[in-house]
Amino acid sequence: MILVIGGAGYIGSHYVRYAREQGEKLVVLDNLVYGHKESLPKDVPLIEGDMGDAALLDHVFTTYPIRAVVHFAAFAYVGESVIAPAKYYQNNTVATLAVLDAMVRHNVRSFIFSSSCATFGNPHYVPMDEKHPQDPINPYGESKYFVERILRAYDTAYGLRFVALRYFNAAGADPEGVIGESHDPETHLIPVIFQAAMGARANIKVFGTDYDTPDGTCIRDYIHILDIAQAHALALKRLEEGDSSDFFNLGNGQGFSVREVIAACEKACGKPVPIEEAPRRAGDPPRLIASADKAHTTLGWKPQYADIDTILQHAWSWEQNRRY
Ligand code: UFG
Repeated sequence: MILVIGGAGYIGSHYVRYAREQGEKLVVLDNLVYGHKESLPKDVPLIEGDMGDAALLDHVFTTYPIRAVVHFAAFAYVGESVIAPAKYYQNNTVATLAVLDAMVRHNVRSFIFSSSCATFGNPHYVPMDEKHPQDPINPYGESKYFVERILRAYDTAYGLRFVALRYFNAAGADPEGVIGESHDPETHLIPVIFQAAMGARANIKVFGTDYDTPDGTCIRDYIHILDIAQAHALALKRLEEGDSSDFFNLGNGQGFSVREVIAACEKACGKPVPIEEAPRRAGDPPRLIASADKAHTTLGWKPQYADIDTILQHAWSWEQNRRY
């Protein structure tokens, strides 16, 4: 069985659905602070609780025959992490340490970790490969970076093998429309644009129009949520075949500015989106674009939905018919 921590969240729930379709047996641990019960298939057990709770973790590891842990749970609002850093270090780093210690206690040695392009900080070059220096510029990125360092130490000390997947910007939704992105509050660019298109918000605020980019707005590499799910499955397979611990960047290698994403969303939904130019948001690097060559060659990762218009169609279709 695979223990999926944060399996009721946006990325975790898409992995659960994907892995279940591949025949994996799964159990989810989620405190439902941001996750949604409704996003889980009825036959996947949900344990509601905190990953930092050592007694609960002992209960989970003794109750279920867990062979691997796939860990998605994290607070992930970059802006909030700048003003409330302790929340991020405590949950994303310290509570993760409790998970790793429980794995060591229960002799479970395969771990897939949701890391982030936010561990890199400002780009020295793009596309960014795994050798790019890591110097995060916000506590969210640091909280993930610290776990990456801890993982190296736990591998050396306890033989806990891991794959850390550094996603760039997760986007899109399950193509069948059963699950999708639902954050409260929602701050991510694509759902906010669609909500503005539907009139659920007055407009989309463009955070910063004076960046050193061709149109002055930030550039990001958007990656489909199911392609991220596929990478997790491949990473776990690789670990279980005996490969050593490793780090991979996941993205499509193409950057889109905020203004370009707004234009592409207008095309996807056929509606105009009112824009308000606003000041920069703290903690935002100007440009993040992945080189995912290593994931392609080493993991055999083949994104199925790399095209931005497909990603946006899936996101739009979810936004119109969302169930939670
Ligand atoms: N943006 C706006 N207006 C908005 C929302 C976002 O202009 O209303 C801009 C942001 O300033 C940024 C870009 O759109 O330039 C994308 O912003 P998102 O909030 O959608 O995503 P981030 O780039 O902040 O994503 C980052 C990291 C991810 C990480 C994620 C966690 O790139 O690795 O934060 O939420 F997982």
